[in-house]
Amino acid sequence: MHNAALATLGLDWRYAAFDVLPESLKAAIEGARAMRFIGLNLTVPHKLLAVPLVDALDESARRWGAVNTIRFEARKASGDWRPLGEFTEVPETEIRAHGFNTDADAIVRTLREDLGFDALAGRSVLILGAGGAARAAALRLAAEGTATLYLVNRTPAKAVELGAEIQRLFPGLKLQLGYPEGKVDLVVNATSAGLGSDDPLPFDATVFGLSQAGAVFDMIYQPAETEFLRQARQAKCRATNGLGMLLYQGAAALELWSGRKAPLGMMRAALMKHVYG
Ligand code: ATR
Repeated sequence: MHNAALATLGLDWRYAAFDVLPESLKAAIEGARAMRFIGLNLTVPHKLLAVPLVDALDESARRWGAVNTIRFEARKASGDWRPLGEFTEVPETEIRAHGFNTDADAIVRTLREDLGFDALAGRSVLILGAGGAARAAALRLAAEGTATLYLVNRTPAKAVELGAEIQRLFPGLKLQLGYPEGKVDLVVNATSAGLGSDDPLPFDATVFGLSQAGAVFDMIYQPAETEFLRQARQAKCRATNGLGMLLYQGAAALELWSGRKAPLGMMRAALMKHVYG
């Protein structure tokens, strides 16, 4: 999606994927800086590890405690740090790595644009999972003013820990560990259950049913329709998979690097073709 966008924008840049071992992350960031890369995206498990490795943390990365986008910057004559993408000559001055997080906002954007939630304030949401993705979703939804959050995880102790953290940061939020008895506006699958074809459902169907859900968001995008989403479709819920979130975090990263508006339609088409064939 990035290379399609770069072609559309007429930028002579390339986006490439590199496998990096966690213990080599520092060296990889240093190498990219030395080679005057415009920026980097980071994925699991690097998002948390990168936080102490960047020179400056944007509020988005500080708030969510994770970096998924790095922008390399140099000082202009005015003394301001500016993105390397703005320089026509490769600067010979010091370069800094500036860390951002575009994942959390992408969650809100997919809920708005793909599920029609104009506002999340006052809503009730069941979050399945208690890992990094669930944490980002829970904190972001709490920041949007969600009224009630239900947390469920296969390993209950992790849900207890996440719940305590959220409650500390958002004391006004109603937080409940376990399934809702009645209806909820939204159910989010933030577990990895569903990635494999033999995976169990991410929730216990003996105590909760998707007929209780107004809408469903599965962060998984491959397969396009997990068993969870298939059941949501059967229950006639509004539902979306994780492709929108992937698209929006990428579009936001591209805008940070280039200062240009991301060509979303081109990026979506490229992503669909690449992911689904
Ligand atoms: P991520 O950063 O993508 O959130 P993670 O931190 O490894 O990845 O979290 C994975 C989440 O998926 C966890 O909530 C995990 O549950 P546990 O805490 O019990 O490990 C959940 N998960 C993974 N496989 C699962 C399965 N088969 N059924 C239910 N939950 C599962």
